[in-house]
This record gives sequence, structure tokens and C-alpha cells, in this order.
Amino acid sequence: MTEHETILVERPADRVALIRLNRPKALNALNLRVMAELTEAATALDRDPSVGAIVITGSDRTFAAGADIKEMKDQSFDEVLAADWFAGWDALARVRTPLVAAVAGYALGGGCELAMMCDILVAADTASFGQPEITLGVLPGMGGSQRLTRAIGKAKAMDLCLTGRRIDAHEAERCGLVSRVVPADTLLDEALEIARTVAGMATPAAILAKEAVNRAFETTLSEGILFERRVFHATFATREQKEGMAAFVEKRPARFHD
Ligand code: CAA
Repeated sequence: MTEHETILVERPADRVALIRLNRPKALNALNLRVMAELTEAATALDRDPSVGAIVITGSDRTFAAGADIKEMKDQSFDEVLAADWFAGWDALARVRTPLVAAVAGYALGGGCELAMMCDILVAADTASFGQPEITLGVLPGMGGSQRLTRAIGKAKAMDLCLTGRRIDAHEAERCGLVSRVVPADTLLDEALEIARTVAGMATPAAILAKEAVNRAFETTLSEGILFERRVFHATFATREQKEGMAAFVEKRPARFHD
């Protein structure tokens, strides 16, 4: 697999890939190199039919402490506009393989935004989340004002974006930002187990379920319901629908990946 400077890519289990952010001295700050390497790696794994789920994680201390402030601080408006700073992250949102974020420690600014680009967000009880950009004289720039508001509603999103305060894993779970909170020492095992479960499901159904849930953020309820019904119909063209339903009736486990 390609050598990277800022991430580590592993295949810890059948059909599961793991991407670790690896800039410990900078608390995994997301510089342009991280953006390029992470999106390239995730896109390549997305194209690999032997990968059914991808876990993205950081270290025990930090998921990611945000975009790299040292890299950004002297940029001019012309430069960030011309480079369309952060637009490269959209490639991660286009990944169709389910993404599991395993978050311990700080998930701040771009780190929180990266976690929110994932589909299932598992937090260690040590995790903290926040959008502190306002304290730097800016605002979220990797989707935070939009994804956070959709995830937790206007009241909480305004609180976090306007005060820059951090919330712990339990508050994040209570307000709907986080899928599950687990003890820190089990975080990676739990995230990998979730990834193994998802990766063991019927691939077309997983891709379509992810698309359908994400469609809820993009469209009206009636359009979303129609989209869901049509992709539900479409699953009847798959081998996996025949296998999954036959296995239920025959009282045996479904064999989706034999
Ligand atoms: N960018 C660049 N470097 C960072 C960084 C960041 N976002 N966060 C931490 N670092 C660096 C520090 O500068 C420090 O480096 P040096 O040893 O060279 O000084 C090293 O990581 C360790 O950091 P601290 O000494 O600050 O560690 P701490 O334990 O005292 O504090 C922290 C941890 C609370 C996370 C603190 O580092 C912090 O507040 N970081 C910045 C958080 C932030 O504001 N994030 C938003 C960035 S802007 C953004 O993300 C825009 C967007 O929407 C995409």
C-alpha cells in the first residue's frame, strides 16, 4: 500500500480498513497533506471491493485538534479562495463505503468536522468535541456550521459555534452528535467490531442505506421517502436480497461474501 507521511493505513480484519491520523506532535492537526493523503487513501479503499467498512481514528490523546493553524495563519483571502481551501475534503463525503469514526481525546474544529463526515461516530469517554474557530477570529470551514446544525439542531450548534466551548462525550451523545460512547480502552476494538458488522452486511444494501440516510439531510421528506422506496425496490435486483431472505426462511446465517 502507498507510503504516507501523515496517516497509517492498515487492514486489521477481513473486509475492514483502518486509517490512523499520525501527526502526534501537532495533535493530528489537519494540514493540506493530511487532507490529500486521507482523501486519497479513503477513495482508493472505497474502490476496493474487498473493503466493506473503513474506520478513521487518531491517537488516545487526540482525534484531531482541527485544521493546522500554523499552516493557515499567514494565508491571504486571495490564496484561500484560489485554492478553494478545504474543498478537497468533499472527496471524503463522496466515499460510499461506510465510515466509522473512532474518537478519543480532542475532536476540535476540523477534527469535529472530520468526525461528522463519518457515518457512525464512536466516542471514547475521554473524547471532547467543539468548534473553537470563533476564538481564532474565523468560523468552521469544513462543514461544521452545516453538519453540526443538522446533527444537533440550531440551539446547540449556535452555542458551540458562538462560544467555542467544548462538550464531553456524554453531552455529545445526549445531543445526537455521537452514535455510542465506550470506555477509552475499548474504543478501537468497539469501532472495529462495528466496522466488521457493517462490512459483513450485503454491500449494495449498505451503500444504499448510507445514501438513503444521507438523503434525509439533502431533501424534503416526501422526496426522501420516494428515494428510499425506489432504492428499496432496487435491492430486489440483487443477489444479496435473494440470499438474505432465503437464509432467514431456511433459518441459517446469510452468506453475503462467500
Ligand atoms: N494546528 C496546528 N498545531 C496545533 C493545533 C492546530 N489546530 N492544535 C495543537 N497544535 C500543536 C500546538 O501548537 C503544539 O505544538 P508545539 O509543541 O510546536 O507548540 C502541539 O500541537 C501541542 O499542543 P498544545 O501544547 O496546545 O497542547 P495542550 O494539551 O496544551 O492543548 C488543545 C490541546 C486544547 C487541543 C490545544 O492545542 C488547542 O486548543 N488547539 C487548537 C484547537 C483549535 O482551535 N482548533 C480549530 C482549528 S481551525 C479549524 O479547524 C478550521 C476549520 O473549521 C477547518
